[in-house]
Amino acid sequence: MSPLVSAGVGAEAAGRGYRLGVDAGRDVVEERVCIAGRDIVLLRPREWESLLTEEAFEREELLPYWAHLWGSAVALAEAVAREHVSGRRVLELGCGLGLPSIAAARGGARATASDWSAQAVRATAANAARNGVEVRTVAADWNDPGVLVDGAPWDLVLAADVLYERPKSRTLLELLPRLSDTVLLSEPGRAPAQAFFEGAESAWELTEVSTRDDPRITVHRLLKRQVGHGRGGLG
Ligand SMILES: C[S@@+](CC[C@H](N)C(=O)[O-])C[C@H]1O[C@@H](n2cnc3c(N)ncnc32)[C@H](O)[C@@H]1O
Repeated sequence: MSPLVSAGVGAEAAGRGYRLGVDAGRDVVEERVCIAGRDIVLLRPREWESLLTEEAFEREELLPYWAHLWGSAVALAEAVAREHVSGRRVLELGCGLGLPSIAAARGGARATASDWSAQAVRATAANAARNGVEVRTVAADWNDPGVLVDGAPWDLVLAADVLYERPKSRTLLELLPRLSDTVLLSEPGRAPAQAFFEGAESAWELTEVSTRDDPRITVHRLLKRQVGHGRGGLG
């Protein structure tokens, strides 16, 4: 997958030897992102493509997309920083490096970050600690979401740049209504996302949340339609 949008972030400071999950000793960089006027500092592998292996190609869950800070995460973190999340139970799907979850925790949310990559959740936990906030982490696949559904209903679900393949769009169309009535989802205009938004119309009211960042990225608010009141209802 090409990084259609790379993160609009500031200067990088080199930092070697930091342990990111099983990538002990890999070359990592510190990335400083200004969210709502305050910096969040993340560590990530210097070159996410360098983590590609033959095994990763064979086992999709090992593809290292988690290791790049995608522009959608920055836009979503900005949107989260404007939400009233204090005391709310917030779940992030496909957390990658964990930026939106960290922004939520900074706003007082009880944040849980999830990803199917064990490396991603370890990186998120380390990044949360680095920023002095508590983020619970859980490794979970959307295709086997028991642990996520067990925690439902979540007050808010977050997801950044997760609609990059049609099967993922279909899986999330089914999963999201089982998790929450409210979702903030950011997306950089990838073609497979179209199917998601067409399918979502019947179950969700969709509005766009404005952010100051990259115009190519849209943050969508999804509010579940109430049965009997919306187009998706029976009444
Ligand atoms: C393009 S990356 C976005 C990462 C992060 N949200 C960001 O915007 O920087 C997609 C993320 O979704 C995760 N992911 C993909 N398929 C998944 C699945 N079936 N279950 C859980 N996580 C998944 C990947 O591991 C990756 O971290």
